[in-house]
Amino acid sequence: MNQDELKMVAQAIVADSKGILAADESNPTIKDRFDGIGVKSTEENRRRYREILFSTEGIEQYIGGVILFHETLHQTTRDGTPFAQFLSNRGIVPGIKVDEGSKALAMYPGERITEGLDGLRERLLEYKRTGAKFAKWRSVIEINERDLPTRFAIRANAHALARYAALCQEVGLVPIVEPEVLMDGIHDIERCEKVTSIVLEEVFSELDAHRVLLEGMLLKPNMIVPGMKCPRRESVLRVAEATMRCLLRHVPTAVPGIVFLSGGQTADDATEHLNAMNHLGTHPWSVSFSFGRALQAPVLAVWKGKEANVAAAQKAFLQRCKFNGLACAGKYHRELV
Ligand code: 13P
Repeated sequence: MNQDELKMVAQAIVADSKGILAADESNPTIKDRFDGIGVKSTEENRRRYREILFSTEGIEQYIGGVILFHETLHQTTRDGTPFAQFLSNRGIVPGIKVDEGSKALAMYPGERITEGLDGLRERLLEYKRTGAKFAKWRSVIEINERDLPTRFAIRANAHALARYAALCQEVGLVPIVEPEVLMDGIHDIERCEKVTSIVLEEVFSELDAHRVLLEGMLLKPNMIVPGMKCPRRESVLRVAEATMRCLLRHVPTAVPGIVFLSGGQTADDATEHLNAMNHLGTHPWSVSFSFGRALQAPVLAVWKGKEANVAAAQKAFLQRCKFNGLACAGKYHRELV
C-alpha cells in the first residue's frame, strides 16, 4: 500500500469543488432507467449512453471522478479508447463499483446485507490493472416504523464495508465507503438523524478496527432527510443543519471528503441541500457529491435514446454538473436555472 498515493487520489477527486458522477448502475438498474424513457437496454445502448455522459465538453471542471460498472470498464468509445483511459485523459479519475448488490440478511426479516467479499482481492487487482483508481461499495439500511434497523444489521454491514475498504487500500485503490440509510418510509428527519448517527459510529469503529487509512478514503453517506412518505417536509436549511450536525459529530476530520448520494431526491433538491451545507461555513472535509439520479435524470429525460437529442442532453448534463460544482462552493443560486 502506498499511503501517499491513496491520499493524493482521494484528495484529487474532490479538489477544486469537484464531485463524482455515479454512473455505475448495474444492468437491472440501468434497464429500469431506460424503461422509463422507452429505450431498450442493449449493450450498445448502454455503451452509447455512457459515452454521451463521459464525452460532454467541459464536465472536467466539475467532475473529479466517475464510478463505472464492470461492463462499462471494459467498453470503449466509438473510436476504440477504453472508457477508463478516455476519462483519465480528460483529467477525471475512473473508479469501479465492486459490491455485488444487497441480499436478504438471513434470520433478519426485512434487512439486507451487501455481498461481494469472496474473491474480492483478486477482482480488485484486476480492476486496478484495467485502470481503476478507486472503488465503491454500497450498504443499505432500511428504517421502518416499528423495529428496523436492528443493531445487528448495522454491524454486519459496517463490518463488510470495512473489510472491503481494507482490501482496497491493500491493493492501492481508494475505497468509497457508502452506508446508505434509505429514504423510503414515513420516518421523520429526527429518526433519520438518529439512525444515521448509529450507522456512522459503527462504520468508523469497524474502519478503525480494520486499520483503514482514513486519509485515503472517501465517505458517501445519505443526507439527513425525512422519509419520502413522511407528512412533515423540511426546509433546505433544516436538512443542511441536521446533516452537518450529524457528520460533524461522527466523521473524523482525517477523512478528506464527504461525497453525498442523492438517494431519490430530485436533482434540484439535492443541489440545494448541498449548496446550503457549504453555505453554512467551512468544514473539516470537502463536502461534495457522488450523485447518480440527481445528475442523470435530467439527461435521460432529454436524450430519450435519440441521436438527434445528444447535444441537448449533453447541455443538460453540463448544466447539472455546473450547478453541483457551484453548490460545492456554496455559490449556487436557484435564479441561475
Ligand atoms: P443516487 O445518487 O441515485 O442515490 O446514486 C448514487 C449511488 O451511487 C448509489 O450507490
